[in-house]
Amino acid sequence: MRRSAPGRTVLPTAPSDETADQAPDTHGPERTHAGSPAPTRAAVILPWERPSSSERTGVDPSRAAEARLSEAVGLAASIGLVVVHKSILPLRGRRPSTLLGSGQMEAEKRHLAEEHVTVAIVDASLSPVQQRNLERGWGCKVIDRTGLILDIFGERAVTREGSLQVELAHLDYQRSRLVRSWTHLERQRGGFGFLGGPGETQIEADRRLITDRIVRLKRELEQVRRTRGLHRSARKRVPFPVVALVGYTNAGKSTLFNALTGAEVHAQDQLFATLDPTMRGLVLASGRRVILSDTVGFISELPTELVAAFRATLEEVAEADVILHVRDAAHPDSAAQRADVLAVLDGMAKEGTLDEDFGTRTIEVLNKADLLGGADALPAKPGSVAVSAITGEGLGALKEMLDARIAAGMEQADYDIEHSDGARLAWLYEHGEVIGREDDEQAAHVTVRLLPADRARFERVA
Ligand code: GTP
Repeated sequence: MRRSAPGRTVLPTAPSDETADQAPDTHGPERTHAGSPAPTRAAVILPWERPSSSERTGVDPSRAAEARLSEAVGLAASIGLVVVHKSILPLRGRRPSTLLGSGQMEAEKRHLAEEHVTVAIVDASLSPVQQRNLERGWGCKVIDRTGLILDIFGERAVTREGSLQVELAHLDYQRSRLVRSWTHLERQRGGFGFLGGPGETQIEADRRLITDRIVRLKRELEQVRRTRGLHRSARKRVPFPVVALVGYTNAGKSTLFNALTGAEVHAQDQLFATLDPTMRGLVLASGRRVILSDTVGFISELPTELVAAFRATLEEVAEADVILHVRDAAHPDSAAQRADVLAVLDGMAKEGTLDEDFGTRTIEVLNKADLLGGADALPAKPGSVAVSAITGEGLGALKEMLDARIAAGMEQADYDIEHSDGARLAWLYEHGEVIGREDDEQAAHVTVRLLPADRARFERVA
């Protein structure tokens, strides 16, 4: 079932023009005569500028375009659109009115009509004017990249904070569209370009509504954050190391999560299946129990206005004892994706949300090795392991590495615990590795390896 994003239901969205008003609404699928919802036929169009050589080195530009297109197709499919047409259109300059060239406009118009497309996703950032002109030219609804991602975030956000963040981003997006498209809205609503005309009054009213709502949302978000802080400290007391999975959308995080934990949830070929982190326990070969936490996938060139909403979902990573960076090793853009993920984590470290040495806690998981001739075919690098979440190859090695990494982060300590204090002794056995013990009449003298957080916890209540 689709969840509707709160931002859409509270306020009327700003139509980009009268054509948009008539165009089918993607938020409510059209109905067939029998009353069952008909799938929305969509096109994905990628206006493509060759990246400059300094931007993406080592990647064949046409393969990179294909990869970007297939990511966009995946994003569209993840909100239930049926993609019946896709194309890559090389850009030879950006036309302010339509972005695309007139020949491209015409050719696409024919394809869209032939395929009975009702929604065209243009995988670029469109100005309100461009969006309006494309809708007019093609006679269908047009959604740009930010609009699409907002839709996906809206659908996937489960926690209160996630929903609020998405609604905030959505309102910001709407507000900018209102501001910049006021002249045509004014025309549409009967104004004649005079200040104080009916059109402008309407826009002013819409803007005020949106601005008020933004202020209220920000306040609520603050409140939710404070409460979440409380929840988080409660979870900190969960006595197991936390392992967070991060990585690009479609890298296979959810599949790996399931393969490791044997869970059936979240196994879907859908992007953003995991906007809100999911946690599950896992027992390693040493008997050590850890908690695996799945996070939202990265996407290429996330529109800047959505970065805050996305980052909020990554705070789990800051708390993790080990970070599993899951990579789609078979993806043509794999190296650039890796760099993007590291850049975001670095950014968090600079901000102070993540500690500077997160690299030492990171294991790079080269997933989808089955597509590259098996795990042995991939060059071994220290700190990385090749796996296939689908065939299970390499998962044993990954778990061993995880065990070793957690052990390496442990600290050794000696404690004298009186025999009357059985509960504390039991706690040490449960949370640490007791590597030496001598008993005398009064006390047990134990040498134990503990995670730094557990050691602090133990000593605090000593
Ligand atoms: P988001 O939830 O969008 O962040 O994606 P994800 O990283 O969780 O990816 P997911 O687990 O949903 O996998 C994406 C696609 O890759 C699915 O079609 C999986 O079946 C496929 N996949 C995952 N792991 C492997 C693998 O090891 N080999 C192959 N061949 N396909 C894989």
